[in-house]
Amino acid sequence: MESTVRDKNQTLIFSVDDIRRIVRQIGVNQLMDEVIARLTHACDTYDAAKACAPARSGFEYQLPGIGLLEWMPVIEFGRRALIKVVGYHPANPSRRTLPTILSTALTYDVETGHMLALMDGTFMTALRTGAASAVATRLLAPRQSRVLGLVGAGAQAIAQLHGLSRVLELERVLVFDTDARVSASFAERAGLLGLENIDIRVAPLETVVTTAHVLCTATSVDIGAGPVFEDSPLLHAGLHINAVGSDFPGKVEVPKSVLRRSLVCPDFLEQALREGECQQLQPGDVGPDLVTLVKRAKELEDYRDRPTVFDSTGWAFEDLVAADVLLSHGRDLGCGTKVVIESMAADPRNPYAFACDAASTDISDGSVGMILRSR
Ligand SMILES: NC(=O)c1ccc[n+]([C@@H]2O[C@H](COP(=O)([O-])OP(=O)(O)OC[C@H]3O[C@@H](n4cnc5c(N)ncnc54)[C@H](O)[C@@H]3O)[C@@H](O)[C@H]2O)c1
Repeated sequence: MESTVRDKNQTLIFSVDDIRRIVRQIGVNQLMDEVIARLTHACDTYDAAKACAPARSGFEYQLPGIGLLEWMPVIEFGRRALIKVVGYHPANPSRRTLPTILSTALTYDVETGHMLALMDGTFMTALRTGAASAVATRLLAPRQSRVLGLVGAGAQAIAQLHGLSRVLELERVLVFDTDARVSASFAERAGLLGLENIDIRVAPLETVVTTAHVLCTATSVDIGAGPVFEDSPLLHAGLHINAVGSDFPGKVEVPKSVLRRSLVCPDFLEQALREGECQQLQPGDVGPDLVTLVKRAKELEDYRDRPTVFDSTGWAFEDLVAADVLLSHGRDLGCGTKVVIESMAADPRNPYAFACDAASTDISDGSVGMILRSR
């Protein structure tokens, strides 16, 4: 009985060492391919009555520096729930050698409320954001797209290149970042992806946006400082844009005029109208969301030759898909450390009784009297 209680109470801690082991064993390309495939399938079979991912909420603050801490919940009723906490601190890379996006995720047993897993969310976020762009790009970009433009060359840009390299036959990547050191280091950072056959080079902003067949904007542009490039008659006629960095009220990357002549597809409409490029549009001017895009892919085929925008704000359902992929590989590889975090006594009606359970290592004689004396 005692051991049953403890087993039920165990949470799998999935640290960066576990994620590293999964990445090394499985390979980043297979992981990306699986997330792309599973996300496509999840969108195709998505039933709004069976799941719920409310628009995220969080804290925005200016002290000790500009930052955001947000929580992104998602549930599949009767099955599982995940809550991701994500921090956005754009000064992190230059001041602290930390990523701008730092994240952790928790998964829950919806029958009991017990926390099943606590895992890194930083790699997962990059992976699923790259995968979401790949899903949209595969459906909206011209099939012969060979040139990728990246505006903003930080962490997400790596995963954007990765995701798109799995669905397009890229020949060239043109990179621009307002921080010249970030542009210059991009090709080396992308080296881990093994894309030796793709020519990756730094270019002026205008060259990037007017040469690109597919453009990804993944910047930490300040609120009110966007867009990050200017509209131009030289933009490719069928340009597909993945706008990844606009994820906060007032923060946009794409010129309104470009949006107005494009089919704009949000990942999650409610959130995109508040935080994404869709802030610049009326709800009636917004195109199908990611789920509809996947479900109606054949009908939307004509849009490949027209300008399109995937307005990616980050949808918690994508996290669920990516967490599934990582956790299932982790289970197969025996990764993770089981820890008892929640107090769960043999007597469920006594919230103090856990301290007396014989299994506890803290209490020598197991008596309530001992607890009271040691206050
Ligand atoms: N859509 C999603 O699901 C999702 C997921 C994760 C992150 N994001 C967002 O993506 C953005 C990038 O995140 P990251 O982790 O790559 O951050 P990062 O700090 O690693 O990279 C951002 C880069 O943008 C550059 N930049 C800022 N303003 C620019 C401009 N006007 N033009 C060109 N470059 C500019 C910065 O110099 C920096 O190198 C953030 O806004 C983040 O919130 C979105």
